[in-house]
Amino acid sequence: MSSLSYRSPKTVVKDSAIHGRGLFARERIAKDEIVLIKGGYIFDAATLRDVEPSLGPAQITVAEGFFIGPLAEPEREGGMIFSNHSCDPNIGVQGQIVFVAMRDIQPGEELTHDWATTDDDSDEMRCNCGARTCRGIITGQDWRREELQRKYRGYIAWYLQRKIDAGL
Ligand SMILES: C[S@@+](CC[C@H](N)C(=O)[O-])C[C@H]1O[C@@H](n2cnc3c(N)ncnc32)[C@H](O)[C@@H]1O
Ligand SMILES: [Zn+2]
Repeated sequence: MSSLSYRSPKTVVKDSAIHGRGLFARERIAKDEIVLIKGGYIFDAATLRDVEPSLGPAQITVAEGFFIGPLAEPEREGGMIFSNHSCDPNIGVQGQIVFVAMRDIQPGEELTHDWATTDDDSDEMRCNCGARTCRGIITGQDWRREELQRKYRGYIAWYLQRKIDAGL
């Protein structure tokens, strides 16, 4: 069956100790391997405001004010990437929609990314990632933190890196 997003056959979606369902490695994944490609419709902020109440967070930002993701309930499951946030993640984004392993990942490990590498919004969340280095509260403005910009260099969404480079 076709679906909007690509999830590597080396991954499986199952219950997560972090939140709801998460994405897990079924077998070893090597550093730099592509694990996810986010797909969907391209839409603007007004459309996001229309669909988010029913779909929940199912999109990612591809450019300032533009998003990619499902727009209807039957497409939601296949459009989700199921990567929970972690403050000590093992995957990162390259370009706008491609997520790769930032290090070798062992079978059974949950695949997570840091929302500082993908998000720019006014959301706040109490983090349940369980990492020793957990930031506690995650905000949609964490991408501005210079130590995170340094830590994730090469694994930051294109639209955020563009803002960082422009000093915005
Ligand atoms: C796109 S969903 C991720 C998949 C989600 N676990 C599910 O089952 O649908 C994003 C939501 O997962 C939750 N989440 C992800 N990472 C989290 C974390 N580290 N701590 C607490 N909640 C988290 C938040 O509620 C967030 O709005
Ligand atoms: Zn955390």
